[in-house]
Amino acid sequence: MNTEQALQQTINDMVDDHRGILAVDESAPTIKKRFDAIGVESTEENRRFYRSLLLDTKGLGDHISGVILFEETLTQKNHVGKPLPEVAWAQKIVPGIKVDKGKGPLSGAPGDLITRGLDGLAERLAVYKEQGARFAKWREVYPVTPNNPTRLGRLANAEVLARYAAVCQELGVVPIVEPEVLMDGDHEIERCAQVTEHVLHAVFHALHLHGVVLEHMILKPNMVVPGKDRRRATPGEVAEATLKVLRRAVPASVPSINFLSGGQGPEEATANLNAINQLRRNAPWQLSISYGRALQQPALHVWKGKEENREAAQQALLKRARLNSLARQGEYTPDLE
Ligand code: 13P
Repeated sequence: MNTEQALQQTINDMVDDHRGILAVDESAPTIKKRFDAIGVESTEENRRFYRSLLLDTKGLGDHISGVILFEETLTQKNHVGKPLPEVAWAQKIVPGIKVDKGKGPLSGAPGDLITRGLDGLAERLAVYKEQGARFAKWREVYPVTPNNPTRLGRLANAEVLARYAAVCQELGVVPIVEPEVLMDGDHEIERCAQVTEHVLHAVFHALHLHGVVLEHMILKPNMVVPGKDRRRATPGEVAEATLKVLRRAVPASVPSINFLSGGQGPEEATANLNAINQLRRNAPWQLSISYGRALQQPALHVWKGKEENREAAQQALLKRARLNSLARQGEYTPDLE
């Protein structure tokens, strides 16, 4: 298989009309925060146990087509000694890897952020590929204030996403391109719409300049929602605003748009996805998920670090995955909860 065929094969294995992506790629500080909330120490063994519990869930592959892992997980094994990327693929879940190195301030643009990790990316990707990763993920983050993101912030972040995506494709790894406009703040939904549209235009302009093949990538954006200190919008309002921005800014050649949950509650994130798919009409892309918290949170809270809760936690994950599959058909209702 040449590089182009490998990219297409990975897209074929990840994109369909009913499944989504599970993000299990929390960095060391983030997983510590999640474990602190349930009183579990973030040791390597606890992380291995929890993440292999998720990937070992029977039937998960009916609803999930890809899983984003953290570096450490690529080399960990389940309880019978099977490497976790193989555990995923046994259910036709494509293993992938988060490759960015986290965010810091962007000099010259007060309030904006920029993600690190381009240095040595090609070399790291070559190793991850050997370890089984077929796609990658990189997240750029955009805080919203009256002045942010600045024009410089939008351009610089777009440039980094495009450079990352081009390196991935050169190595036959499908890039998930994640520009996340944050929910923090008390801005109106209209402000989120405006920022998201500007951000996506800058991202696709940069992807074009860098020769990234749009058919061989996945976009992972935020939904268009009000700041979290505002009144919540209804699923219908979120769907309408989100689709309007995506139609204006995302080329039809992108095969799949997989939303992040970004702090939405599990039920809220499913209801919003459902409304988006109900209103999608002739939208040219698949409209799916790449949720972290909104898929994992109930499972994490059932598990509580106890071996005997393993199966109940798996059922909690499976339930969210199944309800999000239904939401992809626009067939979810809250009474199914
Ligand atoms: P959330 O769905 O929890 O926002 O996480 C998705 C993700 O991978 C963020 O980079």
